[in-house]
Amino acid sequence: MGSKSGGSRSFEAKVLAGLRVVPILLFVFALAGTSLAADRNSCVDCHSNPDFLVTNNKLYDYFQEWNASVHKLEEVECSDCHGGNPDATDAKAAHGDGVGVSDEASGIYYKNVSQTCGQCHDEILEGFEKSKHFEHVKKQKDELQGPTCVTCHGSINVGILDVTTVEAACARCHDEEHDNHPENPEKAKAILNRFLSIHRFYRYVSIRIDPSEARSFFEDVDARHRQLSITWHTFDLEQIDKETRALLGLLKEKRDELRKKSQQKKER
Ligand code: HEC
Ligand code: HEC
Ligand code: HEC
Ligand code: HEC
Ligand code: HEC
Repeated sequence: MGSKSGGSRSFEAKVLAGLRVVPILLFVFALAGTSLAADRNSCVDCHSNPDFLVTNNKLYDYFQEWNASVHKLEEVECSDCHGGNPDATDAKAAHGDGVGVSDEASGIYYKNVSQTCGQCHDEILEGFEKSKHFEHVKKQKDELQGPTCVTCHGSINVGILDVTTVEAACARCHDEEHDNHPENPEKAKAILNRFLSIHRFYRYVSIRIDPSEARSFFEDVDARHRQLSITWHTFDLEQIDKETRALLGLLKEKRDELRKKSQQKKER
């Protein structure tokens, strides 16, 4: 998916697509005693070794985390995030100039994380790059650390903050003690609450709307909805406040209209 391992994956895709034409090639793989999947990715091949449970617990845990993640389901490979060379079978050669958090060449190095995740989440990165947060990530060594994608979403088996978790996540940095906009956590919770209302109204309307007008209505609504996630990541709370209110207003108006229609029908 990412550029770094894309080559090897498309190689496998070609092999699979050409099953009829390349039986000899498959025969060679079989003889070598390796599966196609393992052969194409040395990171997974080596890091999946169950012996690590005993010899290196940390490696074992990180592999298990990836193995259970949405990113694995989506075929996002170790090297898409970490870098390194997934074609090299020797650990040293595979790790290249470094794949750990403290290696500057690594995709998971603090300063590189946003770009790494942004290879695939490009619209969100575009929003994030406009934020105060990103300014502080770029500076890196200032006394005010900015959050990266990983601070809020976790690293491998990612999740999304919601109304029940967002306050605590923001308050790690935005509280009285740090004197850094301590009002932000509460504001963030209010906004995510409105995201929830938007989803509720969205569902109501999508079930009841007349098919003849559904398409044009939802074209507009879906575009605004996508934009919300981008604006959210600019952390311009005034702007996101405006956009969520506008979208909620639009959906509410449609909900009221549909309600009235169905009442009129009943009365007739
Ligand atoms: C032949 C086995 C082998 C291969 C291939 C391999 N690794 Fe590793 N990896 C290890 C071992 C063993 C360690 C433990 C630290 C060490 O010995 O370098 C490790 C450590 C790591 C770490 C922890 C970083 C650190 O500095 O402690 C990361 C991240 C990592 N590997 C990612 C990868 C990625 C990404 C690939 C593929 C591009 C890969 N590994 C390929 C065996 C391997
Ligand atoms: C979606 C991106 C992503 C994928 C895919 C991913 N990782 Fe990671 N990984 C990270 C991030 C970000 C960190 C650093 C944050 C942390 O420690 O939780 C990390 C940390 C690690 C560490 C500890 C590194 C250190 O220096 O302490 C290891 C080991 C590791 N990953 C191995 C793997 C292996 C092996 C795979 C594939 C089987 C993999 N990761 C897939 C993003 C990813
Ligand atoms: C090679 C592409 C790729 C990379 C790199 C990548 N992701 Fe993803 N990510 C995906 C895909 C594909 C999905 C599933 C579809 C979607 O939700 O967009 C996904 C899903 C997600 C989700 C939504 C999960 C959910 O529960 O809906 C989050 C959050 C996320 N990724 C964060 C990250 C973070 C943080 C990083 C960097 C450490 C990262 N991603 C790196 C491709 C990638
Ligand atoms: C790792 C620390 C950290 C976390 C976590 C964090 N922030 Fe920030 N935030 C900062 C820093 C540092 C600044 C820049 C402060 C400055 O330059 O004055 C900032 C600035 C902001 C600003 C712009 C300043 C303003 O209020 O006008 C907003 C808005 C903001 N953060 C919202 C949030 C929200 C919402 C969350 C939680 C979802 C969050 N932040 C989580 C560190 C963090
Ligand atoms: C300060 C916390 C914070 C930071 C930093 C952050 N996010 Fe998010 N992210 C959230 C919250 C809260 C949501 C849920 C609101 C929403 O859907 O936009 C979210 C939503 C998402 C989603 C799901 C969007 C959807 O349409 O379902 C993805 C994917 C994502 N973020 C990726 C990223 C990536 C990539 C980065 C870094 C470039 C990043 N986030 C940085 C807090 C954060």
